[in-house]
Amino acid sequence: MAKVKARYVCQACGSVSHRWQGQCADCAEWNTLVQEAAEVTSIFAAKHNLQGGGRVVQLIGLNTPAALPERLPSGIPEFDRAIGGGIVPGSAMLVGGDPGIGKSTLLLQVAARLAQAGHQIVYVSGEESAEQVRLRAVRLGLGGAPVRLAAATSVRDILTTVGDDAPAMLVIDSIQTMHSDLIEGAPGTVSQVRASAQELVRFAKERGTAVVLVGHVTKDGTIAGPRVLEHMVDTVLSFEGERSHQYRILRAMKNRFGGTDEIGVFAMETEGLTEVPNPSALFLTHRGEPVSGTSVFPAIEGSRPVLGEIQALTVREARCGLSFATAEVYLNVAGGYRLSDPAADLAVAAALVSAMSERPVPSEAVVLGEIALSGEIRPVAHAGLRLKESAKLGFETAWLPKGVKGGEGLRLAKFANLRELVDQILGR
Ligand code: TYD
Ligand code: MG
Repeated sequence: MAKVKARYVCQACGSVSHRWQGQCADCAEWNTLVQEAAEVTSIFAAKHNLQGGGRVVQLIGLNTPAALPERLPSGIPEFDRAIGGGIVPGSAMLVGGDPGIGKSTLLLQVAARLAQAGHQIVYVSGEESAEQVRLRAVRLGLGGAPVRLAAATSVRDILTTVGDDAPAMLVIDSIQTMHSDLIEGAPGTVSQVRASAQELVRFAKERGTAVVLVGHVTKDGTIAGPRVLEHMVDTVLSFEGERSHQYRILRAMKNRFGGTDEIGVFAMETEGLTEVPNPSALFLTHRGEPVSGTSVFPAIEGSRPVLGEIQALTVREARCGLSFATAEVYLNVAGGYRLSDPAADLAVAAALVSAMSERPVPSEAVVLGEIALSGEIRPVAHAGLRLKESAKLGFETAWLPKGVKGGEGLRLAKFANLRELVDQILGR
């Protein structure tokens, strides 16, 4: 009898190796290999041949007109904005985020709105009892919404339950609690998560149900274990924020049906998540007296400008001009907002220089510009939109690169290089 080879599956990336090793050879994560039972050989793994036996599939040309899928607006515009304009029937979506960030709350609210609009919605919780979910809905004032709830963890049971009458949307909270009896292994292992998701995604495609999978995220920010899941679904959303702050941001990391640059902004209140259509006001701390070490940066999120505040703190052993070499430097964006826009360079520099020199940036100023390695300050994209929003919110001054157009209604100070910015802050 052939010896069955041991099988170790990386819980981060899903790659398989036949001996245990401390580090995954594929994704380089440490201590992620776990021995799992062999997967049931599927027909797909069998040798293919050209002898026929399959069905002939229809081939179409690229220019064949295809109707765009009709989207279901959730009735929560900030949610629809993040996913590209509404839920696409038959699509599979993964909503990732830290435990306790508000994924269940968000999806319960979305489910309730859709149900209230007359769509058939099923919400399956593998983490809480149906009664717990119901009580939360009542607390959120959504007790009257005709969402159908169940507590279940068996994918077979779930698909049997909804199979005869496929709902418009099926929420699975969370995918880590599900198990498929097609393979062995405990729920939460990468093989189980993948097999369960595979079955659910297939159901979505075959029956036109939008399937939403909730996924917990690990400390390093990847969707726990199943990075493999990200490839299987059409849309990956990340629900972010800091538990100590009220604000939550819904961000598309991948979207086969839309862009990934729009964000949805929410605030966690006692009555659930409320929408924040004008996030700028939210990320700015109270701006009165100028404080050294802060600057305001007008960011762009998709089509929308969002103003954020950069905060810098430097701790020095001795005052020594502007050398950061002996300083401990802390940098933060207020309100749990996360920035990756290179146009924030100048605002970061301004906050740092201000913290170091203890001379404030004027509180009525916004700062934008990209800094080249040479210290030259470069123009940024969407400057007009950023400046317009700044003026609308009552800012009076903009510090920006030379050569930028726009900024009506603002006093403009233009800088060619970092030296000029430092001179401005130091009043030289
Ligand atoms: P939850 O949706 O259960 O998070 P997740 O599903 O991502 O784990 O939300 C958990 C937190 O949200 C919980 O700590 C309490 C808070 N919360 C509110 O502040 N207000 C509310 O109305 C609700 C339902 C939850
Ligand atoms: Mg939850």
